[in-house]
Amino acid sequence: MRFWDFSTKALATLLASVAVVSASGPTDGDAIAPADSAVVKLTASEFESFLTENPLVLTEFFAPWCGYCKQLGPEFALAADSLKDTHPNIRLAQVDCTEEADLCQSHDIKGYPTLKVFRGTSSDEYAGPREAAGIADHMIKLSLPAVQNVQDLDSFLKAADSQTQPFVVQVFPSAAHKSAAASNETYSQLANQERSRFSFFSIAEDDIISKLDKKVNIDLSGKKPKYLVVHPGELDDVRVYEGELEREAFIDWATSAMVPDFGDINRDTYLLYMNSKLPLGYYFYNNAEERLAVDAFFKEQGKKFRGKINFVGLDASQFGRHAEVLNMDPEVVPLFAIQESSGGKKYGVNQTEHPTGPSTKVITSFVEDFLAGKATPIIKSEPLPTQEEIDAQAVTKLVTHNYDEILGDYSKDVFVKYYAPWCGHCKKLAPIWEELAEEFDPEQIVVADIDHTLNDVETPVVIEGYPTLIFYPANGEVNPETGFRKHIMYSGARELEDFIKFIKTSAGTKAKKATSPKAKKADVDEVAIDDEDDVEVAEDDVDHDEL
Ligand SMILES: *[C@@H]1O[C@H](CO)[C@@H](O)[C@H](O)[C@H]1NC(C)=O
Ligand SMILES: *[C@@H]1O[C@H](CO)[C@@H](O)[C@H](O)[C@H]1NC(C)=O
Repeated sequence: MRFWDFSTKALATLLASVAVVSASGPTDGDAIAPADSAVVKLTASEFESFLTENPLVLTEFFAPWCGYCKQLGPEFALAADSLKDTHPNIRLAQVDCTEEADLCQSHDIKGYPTLKVFRGTSSDEYAGPREAAGIADHMIKLSLPAVQNVQDLDSFLKAADSQTQPFVVQVFPSAAHKSAAASNETYSQLANQERSRFSFFSIAEDDIISKLDKKVNIDLSGKKPKYLVVHPGELDDVRVYEGELEREAFIDWATSAMVPDFGDINRDTYLLYMNSKLPLGYYFYNNAEERLAVDAFFKEQGKKFRGKINFVGLDASQFGRHAEVLNMDPEVVPLFAIQESSGGKKYGVNQTEHPTGPSTKVITSFVEDFLAGKATPIIKSEPLPTQEEIDAQAVTKLVTHNYDEILGDYSKDVFVKYYAPWCGHCKKLAPIWEELAEEFDPEQIVVADIDHTLNDVETPVVIEGYPTLIFYPANGEVNPETGFRKHIMYSGARELEDFIKFIKTSAGTKAKKATSPKAKKADVDEVAIDDEDDVEVAEDDVDHDEL
């Protein structure tokens, strides 16, 4: 039941690759900062000493060829230049991973660009915006104390208005200063740890608290501290944390409370939604007009169903391809679809019946059905292979409709290649997979493949790229919850002999050789090998797993 994770990655990748495409626009520039900019070019030999000498460093790990790095490059340089004189304690640095492969590997860099915030040698993922002013603002914020102590109400209200993201406030009346000193301490620690994600304020003066009281229409007095999440411009609708301040519970709560009643999902916000773990209702729109037409409706729905489901708008002119992950037709927009968090099941308003988009009335009853457990998920599957196809192929073609049955035959060893049609490494592997299938008795060793983009099947692990090769040994131990056998992830070399050796040592059957080859060597050799994938992965990774 990992499709949530799968599609999280898919969405992240989609958003990143869209950025690559748009990098050909006017913002296209050089990934490498100009020599006269304030960006410091770091090499392995000076990396550590630079970090110890500078208290706060934003480091971009990049490759000069990467499209999104080219888009970021000029913004990054502008941000560095704007901070140079005003905030000399903040430094921006670049590491070219094509020149500093070891350094990048030691920092676990998997894609380009990766931005990390260093305080000394400890680092955090950078979670801020990616244009010049946004980068500078975010870094300035990170240079301030983790908790901003509020000195008077007006400056708090001003600060609150200028925030771009929801923020956390501790209300700490004097009556609690002694008794709840421990909570205050926890709050400070929490703020230090989570400062890259949230902004933290604290109000410890009674007269400010009593004034704020009237603004938010909540009784904030009393002997206990209170914790709020405030959305900018929505002071009359703050979310209040009930309960003791305990790290995990509070972060979970705050993460949900940060989510607006209706917002757009895009590069900057998708983590917010993924972290909140609730089902996500998507409204795909073509243009600002369509978005505006449903804004009030979804805000109301979002408020009504807080804590149960989040609603987002998605700009189909940019990210429309994401509809495929939701088992919907990207050509028919507006559309409305819901993806569950836990099981990752997908539900959508029938696009044939609503070719010009569902009305708010239709959406309302759809959401009600979903929350009542009455909606039917959309299961994506290719048609079952015909007998003719089965006879012609040595490799067993898996689709959603036969997947459970074939993997459920525990008496056979099953070796599955999960692939995507656009993946170059998958195509390279296809003829070898065919030969492998012909090598063994199909009554004992089933060599199978499945187009994971067309078939919505569960996997025992999160599939992070293609091809992923999973071996299910015959008569292996079965996990009663998932029905999957204990599996082996194949990560060895991808030549025929390597696979044969692996099967002989891992099989639960005798792994008999095939007596008569089932099919002549298929002509898959002719498939063009196309390594031009539109997603950029760190070069060290490319031998495995593309997504
Ligand atoms: C809360 O904790 C912070 C950090 O330790 C401290 O600076 C502040 O004075 C404390 N506030 C009160 C009211 O005790
Ligand atoms: C959508 O509606 C059409 C027409 O009513 C129907 O034929 C089709 O089966 C429906 N699709 C799904 C997935 O239910």
